[in-house]
Parts: sequence; structure tokens; C-alpha cells
Amino acid sequence: MDREARLRQALLARGAAWPAPLEWRGAVGSTNDVLKAKARRGTPEWTGVLADTQTGGRGREGRAWASPPGGLYLSVILRPRFERVGLVPLAAGVVVAEVAGEFGVEAQVKWPNDVLVRGRKLAGVLTESSSSSRGVDWVVVGIGVNVAVDQTSLGPLAETATSLHLEADRTPAVEDVAAGVLARLSVWYDALEGRPSQVVDAWRARAVPWWGRPVQVRTTHGVLRGTLRDVDEAGALLVDREEGGVQRVLSGEVTQLRPTGSGSRDT
Ligand code: BTN
Repeated sequence: MDREARLRQALLARGAAWPAPLEWRGAVGSTNDVLKAKARRGTPEWTGVLADTQTGGRGREGRAWASPPGGLYLSVILRPRFERVGLVPLAAGVVVAEVAGEFGVEAQVKWPNDVLVRGRKLAGVLTESSSSSRGVDWVVVGIGVNVAVDQTSLGPLAETATSLHLEADRTPAVEDVAAGVLARLSVWYDALEGRPSQVVDAWRARAVPWWGRPVQVRTTHGVLRGTLRDVDEAGALLVDREEGGVQRVLSGEVTQLRPTGSGSRDT
């Protein structure tokens, strides 16, 4: 049985008959790029592309995403008809944290959608979208999970990253992780359509507990320092600025600052 067939079987075992094509490739540049091209051509919602490896895997903020064999590299097209599209990345983080939990690994989410275990990165989510006067045409959700990736293949990332292989009692099959991610994504997508505040609550419940702590947020507009307050109902981060007032952040990178010393940083 090939990987696509194994994936569909694992989805069926979860009661999820997948409504669109799922294509499992060997090596691609980036599964997000493959799907963005398809999305522009009108490919239906829930079409997915997976790859064994990526030669040009991309992360948030223009970073590269190391994509050795043994990882899950998955992208899906969504065509949201709801308002709060900014919650899709948060929902995807919750999805991956839940699936890690199925394999006995307790994961947390860090805004907007890093998935961490013991402070090390297990997975990341890259959402890319296109809008027109009609609203959002498509969103490509790209998810990378370190599954059967060991210390050697993590290389220089071994200090800051981890994998299900390193954290779980047994190494899950990539197909099983993929099926879990797809099945839970469709469940949380329904929530986004009808009960978006549930997504925010689920995200908060799994978030690294940095509320009320000093943080630095790097955004395209510069660096902001303050105290982490909350996320709002649209998924934006709320920071009480050092100089006063609340700043709403739509995109950026959060770092926790140590409360003592001269602004030294960690995490
Ligand atoms: C991040 O944390 O910076 C996001 C990483 C997202 C990686 C995934 S792997 C599948 C999809 N294809 C890509 O090129 N990137 C995403």
C-alpha cells in the first residue's frame, strides 16, 4: 500500500473520509508553494500535499524550515467563509499540540503557532493567503512536525528543537501523525465557522504561561517591549507597553525577557 492509501486508511480509522485529493510526494521545494500554485488555479478546499522532504522548506518571518526525511511536511488549502481568518494559525497550533498529546507528548503553543515541548520546538505552522474585493480567496496552511527525526538530523537545531521520536515512548508513523493533524484540523475548522471563541479558549489553555511577564516582540515595525496581557478574539496578541498603553500585534516573534538584570533574554 502506498503512503496516500495508508493516510486515507488512517483517516478512515478516525472516521474522517477526506473530501479532496491528497498527494504524497517524494522531494518538493516547499509543500506551501506547490499548494499556492494549485490554489491560484482554483483547486478545491481541503486539497492537501505532503512530502517526504523539502529542499526549500520555509518558516515564518522569512526563515528556512529544515526538512530532513522523517518529518511531516503537510499543506492544505482552505477557502474560509468566516470572518476571523486570523484564528486559523492559532487553530493549527492547537491541532498539532492535541496530536502530540495522542502520542503521550505534552506540548504547548507559543503565539502565534509554535508548538513547543519543554521549551523546544516540535512543530511550526506557516499560513499564507490571498484576498480580493470579495474577501479571502484561499489560505494555505503549512504544517511541519518533527516526527521520526533524531538528534543527528536536527544538527545545529538540536539545542532548540525536538521531535516526537525524542519525546514519545514510541516513534509514531508519519502517516498516523498526518491523519491526526488532518482530522483535528477539520474539527477545529468547524469550530472556526460556528464557535470561534472556543478556538481562542483552547489556544489559551495550551499556551506557554507567559501572561503578566515581561516580553519583547519583534515585528516588521520594530521591537516592542512590555508585559504579555492576552490574545484577543481575533487572535491578535495584546501587550501592555513599557511606555504605557496596550499594543495589538498581528504578526511577530515573542521572546520572554528575564524580569531581573539589564534586559537579558531567554526562551
Ligand atoms: C515556522 O515555525 O517558522 C513555520 C514552519 C512551517 C513549516 C511547514 S513544513 C510544510 C510547509 N511547507 C513549508 O515550506 N513550510 C511549511
